[in-house]
Amino acid sequence: MNERTWNKWNDAGGPDYPSSILVQHVFRLMGKTKSDKKTLKVLDMGCGSGVHTVFFAENGFDTYGCDISSVGISNTKNRLKAKGLTAKLSARCDEYEPNSFDFIACFQVLECVSMVEAKTITASACRFLKRGGRSIFYFMAEGDYRGEGENQYGLHGYSRMEVEDLFSQAKFTSFEIDYFSISFKGGQSAQRDWVVSAFK
Ligand SMILES: C[S@@+](CC[C@H](N)C(=O)[O-])C[C@H]1O[C@@H](n2cnc3c(N)ncnc32)[C@H](O)[C@@H]1O
Repeated sequence: MNERTWNKWNDAGGPDYPSSILVQHVFRLMGKTKSDKKTLKVLDMGCGSGVHTVFFAENGFDTYGCDISSVGISNTKNRLKAKGLTAKLSARCDEYEPNSFDFIACFQVLECVSMVEAKTITASACRFLKRGGRSIFYFMAEGDYRGEGENQYGLHGYSRMEVEDLFSQAKFTSFEIDYFSISFKGGQSAQRDWVVSAFK
């Protein structure tokens, strides 16, 4: 899918609230005080319209966001401005210094791209992380309702084997594969996502 397609997705403004999985993860594992957080450099990779970029900036992190969609970047800028927040935004996700981020979040992006791009994204994230840094990838698993029917954005639901292959080829020192799943309509349909924590 190209930029035009993702501009269309971002035209709708993206989600209003951050993922509870990211919120839990950050509050459990990241700096406890504002001054701790100010020293932590965080990248929202594939930030879309900025829901998580705003969350990081609001919580005092040194925040960066990137996305190939110009509409996404513009929405993110506007959202930050409306709240009096700042973050460094880029339309390129491949130009950061190696070993420069403490934390990288990549939410609902890997299901949107080809396997070749997914490999580039995970390998880049690993390169951009500092030694001792951590990252979280949240993306659609096979069997999820969004992959059924029309699936207008061509989302790909990953099998466990694909997840293992994808993260094995990146150069992380280790990774943990978890999942989040919730059913609807008495179990007739379900949302299923992989939650991969990867460490350098
Ligand atoms: C479903 S949206 C998710 C956006 C955001 N992370 C969120 O949770 O709301 C997927 C985003 O991935 C972006 N994207 C697609 N391919 C990308 C790539 N190769 N590198 C960076 N971002 C990409 C799209 O432009 C789109 O904004």
